[in-house]
Formats: sequence, C-alpha cells, structure tokens
Amino acid sequence: MTSNRRISILAAAAALVAGPALADDVVTVGLIVPMTGQQATTGKQEQAGANLYIQLHGDTVAGKKIVLEVKDDAGAPDVTKRLAQDLIANDNAKALMGFGLTPLALAVAPVATEAKVPEIVTAAATAMITEKSPYIVRTSFTLPQAAAPMAQWCLKNAIHKVVTLVADYGPGNDAEKWFGDVFEKGGGQIVEKIRTPLKAPDFAPFLQRVKDDAPEALFVFLPSGQGAAFMKEFAERGLDKSGVRLIATGDVTDDDQLADMGDAALGVVTTHHYSAAHDSPENKAFVAAFEKANAGMRPNFMAVAAYDGMALLYQALDKTKGATDGDALIAAMKGMSWTSPRGPVSIDPDTRDIVQNIYVRKVEKVDGALYNVEFDAIPAVKDPYKAAKQ
Ligand code: PHB
Repeated sequence: MTSNRRISILAAAAALVAGPALADDVVTVGLIVPMTGQQATTGKQEQAGANLYIQLHGDTVAGKKIVLEVKDDAGAPDVTKRLAQDLIANDNAKALMGFGLTPLALAVAPVATEAKVPEIVTAAATAMITEKSPYIVRTSFTLPQAAAPMAQWCLKNAIHKVVTLVADYGPGNDAEKWFGDVFEKGGGQIVEKIRTPLKAPDFAPFLQRVKDDAPEALFVFLPSGQGAAFMKEFAERGLDKSGVRLIATGDVTDDDQLADMGDAALGVVTTHHYSAAHDSPENKAFVAAFEKANAGMRPNFMAVAAYDGMALLYQALDKTKGATDGDALIAAMKGMSWTSPRGPVSIDPDTRDIVQNIYVRKVEKVDGALYNVEFDAIPAVKDPYKAAKQ
C-alpha cells in the first residue's frame, strides 16, 4: 500500500468516527411560514430577514453550525403542526420560528410544550399566544402594544368620534378592544365596530358603512398583506377626500406594500414598532444589506422580527455555550436585551414577550417614495394585556 493510499484510508476512517460527533455540532432551526397563499409576503420577508442575520453574523455560534430549514405551511394550521412535528422528529430541530398568523402559532404550542423545543414567534401578534406554552418566546409584537398608543394619540389630537374596522380573528379582536377601551376611558366615542373576514375580504360594503357613519377618524387593523387592497378601496370610495381621517396600526401601511399604495396613503398616521425609515445607524445598515441581498426589496416588520428571532437564538446559544436543551435556551432568552434595527428591545422575563418602543408615524414621501416617517416614540412598551393581569 502506498503511503498516500494509507493516509486516505486513515482519513476516511477518521471521518467515519467524526461523523456522528459532527452531527451534534449542527443546530437545525425550522422556519415555518406561509410562502404561498394570501400570507405569502410574510413568508418571503421572514425568510429574507432570517437569512440576512446568518449572512451578516456567520453560520456558526458557540461551536455550533446553524442550519435554517424553511417550510411552507401555506397558512393552514394543520400543516403548520405537522411540519413542526416532522422538523423535531426527523430533522432534530432545536428551535422553531415563524408563524405567520395567530392560528398557526397556536397550532404548534402543544408540540413545543411536549418536545420542550423553543417556539420563537416572529410574526403572529395576538396577545395571549405566549400564554399557551412556556416554550413560546416572541420577537414580533402584540396588538394591544400597538393599538393602545394609537388611542392615546387620538385623545391628544382632539379626535373624539371613531369607527373601528378590524380583521375578524385574534389580533383584530385585540386591536378593537385595546384601541376602544383606552379611547373610551379617555372620553372618546366609538361610533361603530366593524369586523371584516380574514379570508379574501371585500372592503366595499364595510367602507360604505363608514361613509354613512361619517366619524372623525377610522381606526383599522388588517394583517400584513391586506393593506394595499384596503387602501385602493378606501380611495375608490372617495373616503380619502371625505374628511374621515385614516388611522391604523402599522400593519396597514406595511413597508412591503407601502411603495405601491399611491398618494391616498399620504398622511395616514399609524403606531407600530418598526419602520424601514427608522433613523438609526443599525437600521440604515440593516435596510441597505437587506435591499442588497434581496434585489431591492424593502424590509417590513416581519423581516425585522425574523432577523431578531435569529439574534435572540444566537445570543441564547452563546449564553448556554452551545447547549441546545429547550429549558436552558428559554432561561437564557428571558431578560435578554439588545439593539435591534427597530431600536432597543428586551424579552420580558415574566411573559416572554418583547418589550420595545412604539413609534407614532405618518406616511410621507421621502426621495419620491412613500415611507412611515416616525415623529414620536413611547419607550419600552410592555404588552398591556399581560401588564394589566400582573
Ligand atoms: C396574526 O395573525 O397574529 C397577525 C398577522 C399579521 C399581522 C399581525 C398579526 O400583521
């Protein structure tokens, strides 16, 4: 046997021995999001946000190689649940991320609990989601967190009569309740509460009711992806010129669609945790890198939540020195704080929800394109739904 041949046999034997040990050095992260169907923009943004984090920070943390497995649930909760089970059982996934709609996040809660695997919610935003499993941590936001400050802004700005219009499911109900309660407590009047179907809504008949009510303002929550269709209908019905002021959570003037909404969106005031126009060095670097990596696509609040979901996981792995035990990871995540492109954030150790600034923004043209331009900020807002219970 030549010495070269002997060396290659030895190398092959060493690789065989090292093989299983190498598998231990891989941390598989399942990103389960809608990549097709009505919520496909959420999947596209989340995938790009998570990938950008890995691109900018390397694919190795605490000696572990991070492998992101992206799965499309098409927005169907039974599919989300099956994908979560498969990722844990077959791919040995150590963390699950994503969940583009509330029912999709809820479907995985019992799976996370049973398998003791962290479920990092980077999209869905109904307040009670984090109560459904001790393994759920959230880097997106909650609707009470975004909607209550909008009511406060109305009260400060002499708006007294409002109609609310929300998508008829978890986050919509939260937005309607938290906007309405805070507004009425401060002396405002809710003239009518309108709920629109989650699936393929036709806004025309609902907007006719708003026109008939003639309130001072219309407060809207719709999930990311429906804003452009709503805005088109709002303008076509002439509501933008009827004196009814449009106010909303930032889901409606979503950065993914805002550039195509047209001038009807100009002047719309919203409250939210992220704008691509947020003025900080971290955000400028994030937006530039995101646009470069994604053929000019502008990041929205889903992208930043997925980016921060990865940031949270990397920091937790650093703290556990690479240990992937679910209890250790969740313990490491509690109380974690860092600077996100959206500003300073932390994980509330009691609720596992994100604490973050909520910004008041107005749609304006910047260099010829529409942006949510921030003009006020409420610092370090905790989810008010859980704060009220404590
Ligand atoms: C949700 O289903 O929880 C959800 C989806 C999209 C949003 C906000 C909340 O923009």
